[in-house]
Amino acid sequence: MSNYESLVEEAGQLLAALQNEQADSNLAAKYLGKKGLFKQFSAKIRAVAPAEKKQFGRLLNQLKSDLEAELDLSSQQTETKAKKIDLTLPGYKRQTGHLHPISQAIEEITDIFARLGFERSRYPEVDWDHYVFSALNMPANHPARDEWETFFVDQAADPKMGKMVLTTHTSNGQVREMERLNSQPPIRMINIARCYRRQQDNTHTQMFHQFEGLAIDQDINIQHLKGTFDYFAEQFYGPGTKSRIRPFHFKFTEPSFEVDFSCHICGGTGKVKDEAGKSIDCRFCKSGWHEVGGAGMIHPNVLKAGGIDSKKYRGFAFGWGVERTYTLRQGLNVDDIRHFYSGNLDFLEQF
Ligand code: FA5
Repeated sequence: MSNYESLVEEAGQLLAALQNEQADSNLAAKYLGKKGLFKQFSAKIRAVAPAEKKQFGRLLNQLKSDLEAELDLSSQQTETKAKKIDLTLPGYKRQTGHLHPISQAIEEITDIFARLGFERSRYPEVDWDHYVFSALNMPANHPARDEWETFFVDQAADPKMGKMVLTTHTSNGQVREMERLNSQPPIRMINIARCYRRQQDNTHTQMFHQFEGLAIDQDINIQHLKGTFDYFAEQFYGPGTKSRIRPFHFKFTEPSFEVDFSCHICGGTGKVKDEAGKSIDCRFCKSGWHEVGGAGMIHPNVLKAGGIDSKKYRGFAFGWGVERTYTLRQGLNVDDIRHFYSGNLDFLEQF
């Protein structure tokens, strides 16, 4: 081996030695420092034959850049080692979402009625006039279609089913449920869905939710209806909450009622005591009660539309707003139901 070849081999060994070192902050001085191994190796130029000096210069340049690259790598490793993981530090809390408050309310309502044997069903939220109005004892051109400030779909009407509408109430599920069960009671349905009306203020939104109960059997009477509401009142609002029914008018029920629940602030009395102990009007309800929706005994014409013999079977139905029912809960104090659909996370995260 010539003298120069042994220098090439030595340069290779120097690089290999650095590669075998453990990552350490002193390596740069050891290899590239003033008195380092590279300096010592380059001093051998004195012994190199003049004809090979240029070649040796190139070898030194190459070796230096190889050593620098290795040292870079090694200093990165030293840095990583220095960054020890402190297992006692508190972890980062990942942001997690939760169900929308109205979805939570829907789950709870579904569970309460399931305990009474009501089965959840879903029916179209865009439906024929037939199911939304006509089959519910509202003859063609009955003003109810305007009363509910209906959104109609802009397309030709079906000769039998009429126009397509965005459902104004979940009552479209009544005759659909009778048909689904081949007009064979007993029926206990709870239909929860979106509804749409041209309305907008702090207690009304253009899109809202209703839950519709339907119970049909041979001996159903108003006591069953009232007992169902009392059970719901205690389960959803807490012990002691009462339900109340007041005469009203719907085309699809006879008799018809509006349904109220007693106010949890004043216990249904409409009066509270002020700081001085004086009796004053309850500011939350003003009357002791809150209205949540409508109800009644199913009209014979509706049973007929669903193919059910009204001489043999009777039933009750009710339809309440989910948003309205939910916001009356103790401690919620939601003064505008539009907040639910504002997409405002500061509001929604409270639930
Ligand atoms: C009805 O919709 C009847 N279908 C209820 C019914 C069903 C009666 C079965 C008899 C038998 P009403 O229009 O009153 O009734 O609406 C019922 C409830 O829906 C209201 O009390 C309110 O809680 C809710 N609601 C109605 N419109 C809106 C709206 N725009 N925004 C939010 N909630 C609403």
